[in-house]
Amino acid sequence: MRGGSVDSLSDAVGHWLEAGALPPELVTGHKLIDFEHRFLIGAIANLRKVCGDYLSFKDCAECAKSMQERCEGSLIGLLGDVFAFILDHFKNEEAIMRDSLMQVVDRDVCEAHMEDHAEIAAKVQEIVSALDTSHIVSRIRDLDALLSRWVNNHISLHDMLLARWVARSDALIDHG
Ligand SMILES: [Fe+2]
Ligand SMILES: [Fe+2]
Repeated sequence: MRGGSVDSLSDAVGHWLEAGALPPELVTGHKLIDFEHRFLIGAIANLRKVCGDYLSFKDCAECAKSMQERCEGSLIGLLGDVFAFILDHFKNEEAIMRDSLMQVVDRDVCEAHMEDHAEIAAKVQEIVSALDTSHIVSRIRDLDALLSRWVNNHISLHDMLLARWVARSDALIDHG
């Protein structure tokens, strides 16, 4: 599963668990953004620990009711943390877009970036509202798929462009 390039969330989480760092492909070079992405991948690793086998269990029927309730409680707690963190992270990136003037100069790119943030947040919200005790494992898989898309597409496209913009304008200020 762990090859040269990171093409799935499992790879990213695996790399995180082993090295305690982001895989190089996901490093944007912007300190705050990378710090927050590291936190996020750590949170996903914790989320996965909620279920004994989140990849194989079809639903939660195999587990005792008390276990289902315990999993539901843990997932609700973690989901709450992840959701709050995601909103905060998106707000920070959007502030960087404004402060660096990227939003003025490259409006379309920033709008597409913010639209993707809104879409990801809405989908996490959907998963939160679809929680029920007997299908906890399915929600974990849903979240995994969603965050996987985020790691693969969003960071490598939108966040990279933003970080590159900031690096370029910092260089101009330094040398201009
Ligand atoms: Fe972003
Ligand atoms: Fe991000």
